[in-house]
Amino acid sequence: MSKTKIFADRNLKIGDIDPNIYGSFLEHLGRAVYEGIYEPGHPAADKDGFREDVVSLIRELGVPLVRYPGGNFVSGYDWKDGVGKKSDRKVRLDLAWATIEPNEFGTDEFMKWCKKTGIQPMLAFNMGTGTPRDALELFEYCNYPSGTYYSDLRRKNASEQPYGVKYWCIGNEMDGDWQICGTTADDYGRKAVQTMRMIRKADAKRAGEEGAVRLVVCGSSAVEMPTYPEWDRVVLEHTYDEADYISMHRYYEYKESDKNPLEDFLGSADDMARFIETIRATIRYVRAKKRSRRDVYISFDEWNIWSQHKKRTEPNWIRAPHLIEDEYTFRDMLVFGGLLNTLLNNADIVKVACLAQLVNVIAPILTQKGGAAIRQTIFYPFRYASANGRGETIRSISTGGTFDSAYGSANFINEAVTHNPEKREVCVFLCNYSQSAEEIELELRSFGDLKCSEFTVMESNDLTLSNTFARPDAVKPESREPVAVSGEGKAEFRVAPMSWNFLKFTY
Ligand code: AHR
Repeated sequence: MSKTKIFADRNLKIGDIDPNIYGSFLEHLGRAVYEGIYEPGHPAADKDGFREDVVSLIRELGVPLVRYPGGNFVSGYDWKDGVGKKSDRKVRLDLAWATIEPNEFGTDEFMKWCKKTGIQPMLAFNMGTGTPRDALELFEYCNYPSGTYYSDLRRKNASEQPYGVKYWCIGNEMDGDWQICGTTADDYGRKAVQTMRMIRKADAKRAGEEGAVRLVVCGSSAVEMPTYPEWDRVVLEHTYDEADYISMHRYYEYKESDKNPLEDFLGSADDMARFIETIRATIRYVRAKKRSRRDVYISFDEWNIWSQHKKRTEPNWIRAPHLIEDEYTFRDMLVFGGLLNTLLNNADIVKVACLAQLVNVIAPILTQKGGAAIRQTIFYPFRYASANGRGETIRSISTGGTFDSAYGSANFINEAVTHNPEKREVCVFLCNYSQSAEEIELELRSFGDLKCSEFTVMESNDLTLSNTFARPDAVKPESREPVAVSGEGKAEFRVAPMSWNFLKFTY
């Protein structure tokens, strides 16, 4: 057993935590929408077909914002197919996922669902087959009050009041050769900025102005892309004056075929940190080159664990197929906790993040058609972070053991420390990536008199354990005795090998 010292000081603030870093993502993909959030006839469905059992799990998860309708799907999607009388809606081929899209659920249903759940919508424009004009028309449909063709169509179809959608993604992963009409950085950058200028005019507000809509341009879809990070620079040079955020996407997986599968997987949080560092530097570079005084932030609008080597490859052209319904293990949960810590530790620049995705498709919630809804292992670190990781992140310095992963050297103890001045709370999220128990000496002197009010852990001897419909609670958090804090704001405690830990202190 070795010892790790962690020091955190309230004066060393990293940044304010934007609650939207606890966002998520719902794509027309597999059973995310159909049989996920929407299943008319399900015993728990309301009159609109929204599953109340799923809504209550989403509320428990604490998701404030949801990105919709894609993802790859959006690049071939005509939003007009998804509005109006349901019996008139067109059934379409979805080329992104080789699926039949019935269009029974579209923009108005999503808005209604957002209203019911209290979730902020983040809509994406189609920058694949879609034109800037299609984007403008969707914007007009959603946000313009009345008296124009599309605003009146919305009033007729669904809502007298405009939806006032604030967050808009200008396409999705446009650098990908898998993306419908994927393109080059220059072509995307030009089309994106023209679209954004049209949206700014229709919104009648300039970028960054109070009440203006927030626009997200597509960054590189993966660090493995040959165009990374040049794509990000070029796109930002085209769009910097109109953009509020640049998107980042990253998925990690446990691969038996890796030389050191466990260590490489456990190093994921550090890789994510380096990815953010690169995009941060790219943003700063373009800001300087443009002589701009505005900041552009990061919208990490797709992140998660995804076993892509198990991806379905054969098209099957059915409605709501079981696609990429990863079953998350205890090991996945440990890495997931580290990824959340990385987002928190970059709270100054990551202002939106979307856990991809929310239900069934690489998701914290799994549903059965006509049956139950369960929490996956990754549900828990997210729920604790979103409920408690509020306020600001403060810098933590730790000295302890390290291990080597494909991403370089990583600490066995991976932590984030948050401070909520309003609630007078300090929270510590801590993963132990060592195979042995670790002694932790935590020093929080600058907060004065501290008391530990909660110590919650997730521990298991079996890294492959997951929650299933037969055993939905196989992996779940447990409470421990709160730890003692000395007069100097020092707490000494032990964390189990390969464990996730949460401690709350009040002052
Ligand atoms: O989240 C699943 C897919 O991953 C999304 O559709 C796409 O944007 C990404 O490649």
